[in-house]
Amino acid sequence: MLLLPLLLLGVILPGGDNEDVFQGPTSFHLMQISTFVNSTWAQNQGSGWLDDLQIHGWESDSGTAIFLKPWSKGNFSDDEVTELVDLFRAYFIGFTREVQDRVNEFQLEYPFVIQVTAGCELHSGEAIESSLRGALGGLDFVSIQNHSCVPAPDSGSRGQKFCALTTQYQGISDIIERLLSETCPRYLLGVLDAGKAELQRQVKPEAWLSSGPTPGPGRLLLVCHVSGFYPKPVRVMWMRGEQEQPGTQQGNIMPNADWTWTPQVHWLDICGNNSALLDPFDMSCIMALEALVISDYLVSPRRVFFPI
Ligand SMILES: *[C@@H]1O[C@H](CO)[C@@H](O)[C@H](O)[C@H]1NC(C)=O
Ligand SMILES: *[C@@H]1O[C@H](CO)[C@@H](O)[C@H](O)[C@H]1NC(C)=O
Ligand SMILES: *[C@@H]1O[C@H](CO)[C@@H](O)[C@H](O)[C@H]1NC(C)=O
Ligand SMILES: *[C@@H]1O[C@H](CO)[C@@H](O)[C@H](O)[C@H]1NC(C)=O
Repeated sequence: MLLLPLLLLGVILPGGDNEDVFQGPTSFHLMQISTFVNSTWAQNQGSGWLDDLQIHGWESDSGTAIFLKPWSKGNFSDDEVTELVDLFRAYFIGFTREVQDRVNEFQLEYPFVIQVTAGCELHSGEAIESSLRGALGGLDFVSIQNHSCVPAPDSGSRGQKFCALTTQYQGISDIIERLLSETCPRYLLGVLDAGKAELQRQVKPEAWLSSGPTPGPGRLLLVCHVSGFYPKPVRVMWMRGEQEQPGTQQGNIMPNADWTWTPQVHWLDICGNNSALLDPFDMSCIMALEALVISDYLVSPRRVFFPI
């Protein structure tokens, strides 16, 4: 049995424009997924997100908001939150009814799904940009740009018809406008501050290497496991000496219950003839948390051995 020495080295690579301090998420958006099954049956799902971290849910049967974090209300008073929840409850009821009433007019066929994403994002220099996008059947349908409804290029006459229709609902348009340009920025700044202890934390991952089943003669499958890190942006790569190895497969990044992330395993299929593999070599699995700059090693260098 031969032992291949492998060096597992986790380092954080400072990226291009990284700030010295990780600032946490920069955007808030609400997501609506409305499924219209048939003429009498529709379901609305609602949620609130800071980047890709969910902080609000929506109980659609009772029409109540679920605050997933103690600081999910930001710095809004209970009265203001109640007012907003009432508004969203009325919106979901009205939206469902309007859509059902206009199925023929818009030539919609059951079942169909409507998705709406609305929110605001903090840019450098404190500028906050708001946006709203609607999709039908998973395809962009309309968006609100610069205070006006813009049909998506592929939405055809339906998109134009929808935007024309919105001009008849000036009251609703004004409310949406106020939510986007006034309420959202104010809420975003407040909630980022209220949750900053949790949002700006850094959690170092566990990392370990293992060998997978041999894919074939003269080949070696190495697996780099990294788990439980925060924030999410991460890149894992394999280095043989100074050379990045091609052939790294990166799986989807899955959320853990505690708000850290676990990418599915990273594989490296090392191909070579047998004699090339028999020579000892150093192999590193390098993990770059793209948003972070920490000067020390993320994972202490570790030498591990694989019997082959
Ligand atoms: C609508 O869909 C629901 C759920 O699938 C079903 O129970 C109901 O019978 C359907 N109604 C009609 C009118 O098709
Ligand atoms: C937004 O609208 C204003 C006035 O209607 C216009 O001056 C400005 O150029 C527009 N901006 C964009 C990005 O379209
Ligand atoms: C919450 O914080 C934001 C940003 O600091 C501020 O503009 C706002 O007035 C505060 N209070 C409320 C109730 O929004
Ligand atoms: C196998 O690897 C050895 C050592 O790296 C090399 O000298 C030899 O040319 C390789 N043979 C083939 C068939 O690639």
